[in-house]
Amino acid sequence: MNKNIIIKNASQLVTCSGFKAKRGKDMSDLQIINDGAVVIEQGIIRAVGKTGTTISEFDESRFSVIDARGKAVLPGLVDSHTHFVFGGYRAEEFSWRLRGDSYMQILERGGGILNTVLATRESKKDKLIEAGKKRLDSMLSFGVTTVEGKSGYGLDHDTELKQLEVMADLDNGHPIDIVRTFLGAHAVTKEYKGREDTYIDYLIDSVMPEVAERKLAEFCDIFCEKDVFSVEQARRLLSRAREMGFKLKIHADEIVQLGGAELAAELDAVSADHLLQASDKGIHDMAEKGIVATLLPGTAFSLREPYARGRYMIDNNSAVALATDLNPGSCFSESIPLIFALATLYMNITTEEAITAVTINGAAALNREDEIGSIDVGKKGDVIVLEFPSYEYIPYHIGVSTVEKVVKDGKLVFDKEKE
Ligand code: NIG
Ligand code: FE
Repeated sequence: MNKNIIIKNASQLVTCSGFKAKRGKDMSDLQIINDGAVVIEQGIIRAVGKTGTTISEFDESRFSVIDARGKAVLPGLVDSHTHFVFGGYRAEEFSWRLRGDSYMQILERGGGILNTVLATRESKKDKLIEAGKKRLDSMLSFGVTTVEGKSGYGLDHDTELKQLEVMADLDNGHPIDIVRTFLGAHAVTKEYKGREDTYIDYLIDSVMPEVAERKLAEFCDIFCEKDVFSVEQARRLLSRAREMGFKLKIHADEIVQLGGAELAAELDAVSADHLLQASDKGIHDMAEKGIVATLLPGTAFSLREPYARGRYMIDNNSAVALATDLNPGSCFSESIPLIFALATLYMNITTEEAITAVTINGAAALNREDEIGSIDVGKKGDVIVLEFPSYEYIPYHIGVSTVEKVVKDGKLVFDKEKE
């Protein structure tokens, strides 16, 4: 199939136009074109504008044509924080948490992340690929065209690399683009408990050089949390990571306020993620440096923790991204509709801001704001068509996907009407 598509007559073409993260008030600006069209040639957006003037310059017979009359069209969505490659499940832990156990108590007694580590070590690559593909298919149906995926369920050389290789294979074999992050510092196994610094040395000396050399991951991340890795340990690991060529992310201030947000600003990370407990200073430091605050409301919801202060962040000129955090423990959900429901109804984020947060700001959280996240000439032809005439239907149809069609790199890859 060729990668030439014209999408025309869109009641709203929600372009989210821009080539950098939007901060504060700018997050409300969706740059909408009524009766809009987008022309994609060889997988790249060539023209954007009013239908009449835009398509008149092109010979429609060379294109597949989608008539989006009565439908809103948006950029493909970017889920910029997930842990979607893992073995096994932890349904019993969900029940334990309902009965009162906390997420950290379960981890401390050897469950939680460590439970998934055992299952992921045992899983053969083809099984991980099969499960990963199913999860990607589901994400695609929600309009996601780029996803970030982390390692961190191996905590040893071979399994960390196995997870990253699985993501590389999936990237080649699935329409969704996958951005890979090395999260070897996600927890420590029993043999390293109390010797976290030794484990960090092991990652720096014996795992990360190969990950960097084989370009298996573009980002390096760490779970900086009380009883996991301290701010000092995070600083040491991430500083070395940067020297090796990784871009930086941090799981910061999720359960306890440790100063992860401040560290992200100090190290010029691309994003700091979670931030439920981030301090005012941390939030301001990040805003000043333009570091993306990636908020994961599904996790706060699932752990019954207070939501990150998204409204305060946007009011103080932060660039906020929203993502699912899909993982088998703290948030087993890839549901974009759930994220919209929580962000708008519980975090006081407006629909316009939430859309910016899963498009151009999600792209910026992956350092791809010049390539994806908006409908602009020169960007990838990643576009979604809704079943409804306006973007306002996205959170309004609570918990249900409003996505009818997904175009990735100029190819129709999902069509609800044909499912
Ligand atoms: O982002 N907080 C640490 N890591 C993941 C959860 C991982 C798991 O429980 O398997 C998170 O919430
Ligand atoms: Fe996470």
